[in-house]
Amino acid sequence: QGLQGHISVVLLGATGDLAKKYLWQGLFQLYLEEAGKGHNFSFHGGALTATEQGQEAVTKILEALSCPKDVPPDRCAELKGQFQRLSRYHQLKTTEDYAALSKDIGALVQREGLWEAGRIFYFSVPPFAYADIARSVNGSCRPGPGAWLRVVLEKPFGHNHQSAQQLAADLGSFFHEEEMYRVDHYLGKQAVAQILPFRDQNRKALDGLWSRHHVERVEIVVKETVDAEGRTSFYEEYGVIRDMLQNHLTEILTLVAMELPFDVGSSEAVLRHKLQVFQALRGLRRGSAVLGQYQAYSEQVRRELHKPAGFLSLTPTFAGVLVHVDNPRWEGVPFLLMSGKALDERAGYVRVLLRNRACCVQSEARWAAEQSACLPRQVVFHIGHGALGGPAVLMSRNLFRPALPGGWEEAVGPPGLRLFGSPLSDFHVYRPVRAQDAYSVLISHIFHGRKDSFITTENLLASWAFWTPLLDSLAREAPRLYPGGADNGHLLDFEFSGGQLSFSVQQAEQLVPGPGP
Ligand code: BG6
Repeated sequence: QGLQGHISVVLLGATGDLAKKYLWQGLFQLYLEEAGKGHNFSFHGGALTATEQGQEAVTKILEALSCPKDVPPDRCAELKGQFQRLSRYHQLKTTEDYAALSKDIGALVQREGLWEAGRIFYFSVPPFAYADIARSVNGSCRPGPGAWLRVVLEKPFGHNHQSAQQLAADLGSFFHEEEMYRVDHYLGKQAVAQILPFRDQNRKALDGLWSRHHVERVEIVVKETVDAEGRTSFYEEYGVIRDMLQNHLTEILTLVAMELPFDVGSSEAVLRHKLQVFQALRGLRRGSAVLGQYQAYSEQVRRELHKPAGFLSLTPTFAGVLVHVDNPRWEGVPFLLMSGKALDERAGYVRVLLRNRACCVQSEARWAAEQSACLPRQVVFHIGHGALGGPAVLMSRNLFRPALPGGWEEAVGPPGLRLFGSPLSDFHVYRPVRAQDAYSVLISHIFHGRKDSFITTENLLASWAFWTPLLDSLAREAPRLYPGGADNGHLLDFEFSGGQLSFSVQQAEQLVPGPGP
C-alpha cells in the first residue's frame, strides 16, 4: 500500500535513573538503526511529574544523548534534533491520561498518513506501580487490529516462588504471554549474547567437548567492588541470591548448559531448551552455598533504615553456590555460581574449564618436557570489567581456532597480562567490533520480537522453584563477615576442592569454609 508502518514507544518512568542512564540512549540507538529502513517512529516519555517539568527533564536527557563514534559532530546534532522532534512527554497519572495518550498516538498516525505497526510500553517503574499501569495500558492503550503490543518489564519479578506466581498471574490477566518482555539485562551483554552463537558456529568442534566427559567445571562469576550504600532498603529485602544469582547467573547457566537447538535463531526452540535445563537442576541443599556479608553493611542499614543501635542484618552480600545439572550431558559437573558486593575486584566471566588428562597421568619429568600439552584448556566468555576491560571471548590455543559469528574480531590484549592461570598469549582472543550497551541490544531485540533474550513466565517460575527452598533455609542464618573493599582486606576467589566449596579472606577476619554439599 506504500504507507509506512508506525511504531510508538512509550517509556514509563521517563525521568528515572534507568531511563536517564540507558533507556533513552537505547531508544535513540534504535532510531538510528531502524529509521533508515523504512520504519516510522514516535517516542513518548511518561511519568507522574507535571507536563512542564517532565518535558523539561526529558529535554535535558535528550540533549545529553551521544552518537556512535563514527558519526561526525554536525551529523550527530542533526540526528539528535530529529529524535527530539519525535519525542514528547506526557503526564500519566490516571486512566484518562492513558486514554488521551492512546488517542494522541492514533491521531498522529492518521495525520502522517501511516498505518500502525505496533506499540511498545516500557515499564521502568517500581513493581508496586505495575498493576495499575498494566490495567490502564490494557484498558486504554491497545492498538487497533493488526498491530502488536509489547510490554517490557524490569525486575524484581517477585521475592520467592509464591510472590512471583502471584505477580505473573496479575500480569497475565492483562497481557498475553507473547506480549510480555521481562528484562534480564545480562542477556543483553555482548559476551553473554554471544554464548549461543559461539556454540553454534563451533558446533562440530565443541559438540564432543561440551559435556561431563571433558568439562571439569563451569564458573559463572560476577564480582562487584561497589557496596549497597544508598540502596539498602531494596537490598535488605533481596540480598545477593535474589539480586544476582536467581536471575543473571542462572540465565547464563542455562545458556551454557542447554542442548543446542538445531536453529539457534528460533526463540521458541531456545526458550524450550532453556526450560529443560531448569527441569534438570538438582535441588539445592543448605550445604550447596557459602554466604558472606561485608562488614560495613549492617551499619549502613542501621543508618539508612533507622534501625536500633544493636541491629544486625542477616542479608548476604556475597554468595557462592554449587549447582548440578542432572542430565546425561552434565551429570557430576560442578557449576559454581558466585557474586558479591564490596569485593576486591570488578569482574564478570563464564569459564568452562576442560579436563586436561595429559597433566594428570604424566610424571613430573615428562610434564616439564611436554609442558605445553598440560596448559589449562578453557573457554571464557568475559562479560566485561577487570583487567581486560570490555567484553571478550577467549579460547585456549591448545583447543582449536574457533570460528566467530559476524560482528566480532580477533584482538590482542594488554601484553604481560595473565588470566585464569595462563598468559593472554595462550588464548585466541576475540572482541566485538562495536561495543554496545546491554539495554541498546535488548531494545533492538524487543523491536525485532526476539523473545529468547527475555524471561518467559514458565522459565521465571522454574528459576524461583529452584532457588526458593535454599532461600527459605537460609532466612535465619547470619552470613560470615568479610572486610569488604580492596583497602580493608582481600576476598580471595572462592575455592572448590574435594567437592567442597569455600572462600577465605587474606587479612584480618578469617572466613571459615562453609559446610560441603
Ligand atoms: C542489577 C543489580 O541487576 O545488576 C545490582 O540489581 C547490580 O545490584 C547490577 O549492581 C550489576 O549489573 P552490571 O551491569 O553493573 O554488571
